[in-house]
Amino acid sequence: MILGIYANFFLLTARLTNNQFNIMLIQNISVIGLGKLGGTMAGCLASRGFNVIGVDVSYPAVEALNAGRAPAQETGLDELIYANRNRLRGTPSHEEAILGSELSFVIVPTPSDDRGAFSLQYAAHAFEAIGKALATCDHYHTVVLTSTVLPGATRYGLLPILEQHSGKKCGQDFGLCYSPEFIALGTVIRDYLNPDFYLVGQFDDRCGAALESVNTRTALNCAPTKRMSLENAELAKISINSFVTLKISYANMLADFCERIPGGDVDVVSDAIGLDKRIGRRYLTGGFGYGGPCFPRDNVALNFVGDHLGASCELLHVNDEFNRGIAERYVNRLRPYLRNNSTVAVLGLAYKPLSHVIEESSGIFLCKALSSLGLRVIGFDPLANDAARTALQNYALVADSLRACLQDAETVLITTPDDAFKQFTGEDYLGEKSSVTLIDFWRCLPESTRNHPGIRYIPMGHCLDDSAAASALKGLWRGGSNSTL
Ligand SMILES: NC(=O)c1ccc[n+]([C@@H]2O[C@H](COP(=O)([O-])OP(=O)(O)OC[C@H]3O[C@@H](n4cnc5c(N)ncnc54)[C@H](O)[C@@H]3O)[C@@H](O)[C@H]2O)c1
Repeated sequence: MILGIYANFFLLTARLTNNQFNIMLIQNISVIGLGKLGGTMAGCLASRGFNVIGVDVSYPAVEALNAGRAPAQETGLDELIYANRNRLRGTPSHEEAILGSELSFVIVPTPSDDRGAFSLQYAAHAFEAIGKALATCDHYHTVVLTSTVLPGATRYGLLPILEQHSGKKCGQDFGLCYSPEFIALGTVIRDYLNPDFYLVGQFDDRCGAALESVNTRTALNCAPTKRMSLENAELAKISINSFVTLKISYANMLADFCERIPGGDVDVVSDAIGLDKRIGRRYLTGGFGYGGPCFPRDNVALNFVGDHLGASCELLHVNDEFNRGIAERYVNRLRPYLRNNSTVAVLGLAYKPLSHVIEESSGIFLCKALSSLGLRVIGFDPLANDAARTALQNYALVADSLRACLQDAETVLITTPDDAFKQFTGEDYLGEKSSVTLIDFWRCLPESTRNHPGIRYIPMGHCLDDSAAASALKGLWRGGSNSTL
């Protein structure tokens, strides 16, 4: 590994000499914002041999880092931080961090604002503190914004703050990059260390090269770096998430088709079209809508910028509406399985398995839609119960255990393909009852559960009623029936 690092350094130095500037080998890095992404980046960078100074306005986060504990919740992070505690330290002082490092990553929140854009409030605060530190910094320092922002935010929203508070010029005294990460909560360590590629928006070549040198030493998989202007990188970042949401919605639309076609099976269709290299199979499984802290808001934000600039972005709006309407559409479709005043169980309240995050979760939307029908709704999630309890206060109960959740439910809806739900047997689902209807949006339950006596299994994305579907389809060719399923 050491040989690799030096080889990369010499390669880089050769390239930089061609570009007529020199950078020192970066060894000390600051990570500003020790949350779910920043805290994990700090641990990963330390694991790759960098000395890392973590900064946060939250004292518990700083204290955790100094005590060798994870400053935020993420799978495997406690162990990673503890193993690399000798190269990690925390401080509440932006100045201490900037003066003690050659490059800093800024990963503070950029929450959505009323317009659907991303607020720069936290980033502006961090950039002001960094600018003041740069004023007394006697070496060239590269500031890398990693938080998700919209096109123009880095150059027109944040750079002026750095220049104003430092009294220095970008490109001359310090560098500025925009370099977001493509990670999923629950697998942030693996995703961060094995990216498909690094996206680097650069103010100029000097800071872009500095960041590329860090990336080269961080990746476990020789991922390439794509360097470009700040604005192109900002657009690329947000359009990747937005494009993936389109793919998810397309798969969910296919599931809807398959429910209406005799013998329809969305997995058969997705497996086939996923073999086409132009399409690919990932994110093409018909399921139950996308959610979480990134996908929905990124799509809305890109739409906002497009509208502002007069770009043709109706597609983004339609996608968002389609996704937000999914719980309500399914509740209408599933009415025949939902007896008035009965108890229904919703399994899966987080936006995906193995997550405690309920933001924009389809499971939560589903509970609310079911409750509006007057049904007694009871939910359960292996990790997200606490958050869900608050969000569902006036809509649904949240059970402490899967067994308790199922006790009185005559209909059970499974919204995430969580192992806990797959491992429950037919007997477990039935409990004391003689029959139960299981509605499985991901078709994830095993054969033994599906075929268990007393269980009526409804795999969504499969045809719901072959003969009704056949007659509706026949109508298309005989000019008859308008029947809907
Ligand atoms: N979490 C994800 O899955 C993910 C994925 C891709 C991109 N992002 C982006 O990364 C950014 C951060 O996300 P997160 O999930 O890590 O947020 P988070 O809320 O978990 O963490 C943010 C941290 O920043 C700290 N902070 C706020 N202001 C600060 C300041 N002035 N100086 C120092 N620290 C400060 C907070 O105390 C907090 O610990 C957001 O822009 C988000 O969109 C997140």
